[in-house]
Amino acid sequence: MEAPLLSVRDCSFSYRGGDFRLQRVSLELHPGEVVGIVGPNGSGKSTLLRLMGGLLRPDRGDVTLDGVAVRSVRRRRLARRLAFLPQDPETSFRFAVREVVAMGRYPYLGAFGFLTGRDIQVVQSALEETATASLGDRSFFTLSGGEKQRVLIAGILAQEPSVMLLDEPTAALDIHHGSQVLDLLWGLSRRGIAVAAVTHDLNAASLFCDRLVLLSRGRVARMGTPAEVMDEALLSAIYEADVRIVRNPLTSTPMALVLGKAAHDAS
Ligand SMILES: Nc1ncnc2c1ncn2[C@@H]1O[C@H](COP(=O)(O)OP(=O)(O)OP(=O)(O)O)[C@@H](O)[C@H]1O
Ligand SMILES: [Mg+2]
Repeated sequence: MEAPLLSVRDCSFSYRGGDFRLQRVSLELHPGEVVGIVGPNGSGKSTLLRLMGGLLRPDRGDVTLDGVAVRSVRRRRLARRLAFLPQDPETSFRFAVREVVAMGRYPYLGAFGFLTGRDIQVVQSALEETATASLGDRSFFTLSGGEKQRVLIAGILAQEPSVMLLDEPTAALDIHHGSQVLDLLWGLSRRGIAVAAVTHDLNAASLFCDRLVLLSRGRVARMGTPAEVMDEALLSAIYEADVRIVRNPLTSTPMALVLGKAAHDAS
């Protein structure tokens, strides 16, 4: 297997003054793979992603990008290599959509900050790939939640990174736009980009991810192929829910169903 682009080695982290602790997490991200990070609310998914993106510094262990400590990479170089989509982005800025997406090109611009023809082309295709071209002249803060989300995804596409870290990229999207974004990420990964995405959609993760990392209370409960992680007893225990695994009738991949009280009454 090729050398990892990003490595998390034996990392632990806690927020100052908080009880939560991410404990001894190790994870490698290789070119061309999609890794899904799943787990209950508060299990540490966003924290792990922030460590991977160099937004937080581990208390122990290290995170490297291309073999170099991610926090020592200069911002401009880091932005050309790695893109990060936060769970709760700053969404109040009063720029036109096209300008928001063009911000993704900043790490490539020269001293005077002018966009070249190629920059404009990259921005345009990012808008088209996320179905946001028709919103190009709108003011960003007037968009709906899902439209904003797609524009922010366009922005990280325009960054042309080798590693994409996305925190719940499809949470606000309808099934059409959600599957469009997943197809897009999957297509990018087949062209060699490494993608790590946090999601609560276990079934989408099972379909799209090469590997899953299941977190529970700050620890990796299991890491492996979707078939290895989509384990009925394991998911039921970790999510404290009555989880059943069935075969997706169309793809034969594992699918999780949650049986609530209504389901028990019906059966
Ligand atoms: N800035 C912070 N300061 C203190 N504690 C924090 C901070 N950010 C997160 N936490 C705590 O750390 C724990 C893990 O949070 P994290 O955001 O990583 O969870 P998550 O798995 O992404 O959850 P969710 O599915 O709800 O997004 C939680 O208990 C949270 O309250
Ligand atoms: Mg989170």
